[in-house]
Amino acid sequence: MKKIFSLIFVFLLVFHMTACGKNIVEETGTETIWESDTNESGPELMVVPDNEDREPVAEEENIVRAEFDLETKTVILNSGYEMPINGLGTYSLHGDECITSVKSALSGGVRLIDTASAYGNEEEVGQAIREAISEGIIQREDVFVTTKIYPGSEMKNPAQSIQACIDRLDIGYVDLMLLHHPDPNDVEAYKVMEQFVEEGKIRSIGLSNWYVEELTEFLPQVDTVPALVQNEIHPYYQENDVIPFIQDLGIVVQGWYPLGGRGHTGELLGDPVISEIAGAHGVSSAQVILRWNLQKGVVVIPGSSNPDHIKENSELYHFSLTEDEMVQINALDRGEKHDWY
Ligand SMILES: NC(=O)c1ccc[n+]([C@@H]2O[C@H](COP(=O)([O-])OP(=O)(O)OC[C@H]3O[C@@H](n4cnc5c(N)ncnc54)[C@H](OP(=O)(O)O)[C@@H]3O)[C@@H](O)[C@H]2O)c1
Repeated sequence: MKKIFSLIFVFLLVFHMTACGKNIVEETGTETIWESDTNESGPELMVVPDNEDREPVAEEENIVRAEFDLETKTVILNSGYEMPINGLGTYSLHGDECITSVKSALSGGVRLIDTASAYGNEEEVGQAIREAISEGIIQREDVFVTTKIYPGSEMKNPAQSIQACIDRLDIGYVDLMLLHHPDPNDVEAYKVMEQFVEEGKIRSIGLSNWYVEELTEFLPQVDTVPALVQNEIHPYYQENDVIPFIQDLGIVVQGWYPLGGRGHTGELLGDPVISEIAGAHGVSSAQVILRWNLQKGVVVIPGSSNPDHIKENSELYHFSLTEDEMVQINALDRGEKHDWY
């Protein structure tokens, strides 16, 4: 029943989004298409010449599931921008520890950094990135930075709070901005994020902590399909009904608390099923869990202040889990949320 409802919703939503004409034909006589399976496209939009003989691209654009490219370690978002599929989460990193951790990640090749206004560390994240740029470790274009605005007063004054995030980060544009949680002002706040995209200050926008019910209510009220939804996902809380629902809308799913979150990592990393699989591949339990996410098409942003862990958490591409191992980990689901939202 739930499945039938989801299918009907997906159909209606795609019809709605298509009817809104988002990004199908530009005034310049060119047409923008989304390319989810190419190795060659950089972070820029792909623009192809208008062609009268060409079939309308409505169906092939926003509803294509974004495929992970395990060679480039990236995915193309429905906004046309390329995003790394493994990164560093910075919740609970502050001050010098935050700066050192972000720089350690960037030096080791990690190219996706997740922060939020609520983490109180956008300034440190920005400083680490600026230092890495000035030391020649990266260029601005090499790193993909996500931040979020929080419910309550921030979403009540979205233009001011979005600009404040941009100012605190101080790295020019923001790659991806999310609404951190649903809020009575979330639709208005999202529309303001859309304006910031128009102005080139933000490249892509999305949501965090939106599940099937919330998405079903929210999406018909906005014009831009979110590029990404970030939700709690780990072997003890798998969201196996939510993930395909989101992915079938052409939206990339990203998991928070991939290792269970602070206070829960011991049990998860010590889980006998995961430990045995890790032993079989000669990798760590953390790597098994992160790889399991990638094979489900879920982007990972493990948090760490330990350079060895940061390095280990990015080494996810030299092994793969068998179908049987994926099934074994899927069977660990307990529907056990490790936070209240
Ligand atoms: N949108 C939201 O509402 C929301 C909510 C929560 C989190 N997030 C995002 O998701 C990110 C990830 O969540 P999180 O950092 O709270 O939890 P997490 O990634 O599940 O776990 C972090 C914990 O795992 C440890 N750890 C990391 N790598 C390890 C490894 N290889 N081996 C052993 N232990 C390891 C870390 O300790 P060490 O420091 O010692 O490595 C830390 O204690 C956050 O940083 C944040 O960016 C978003």
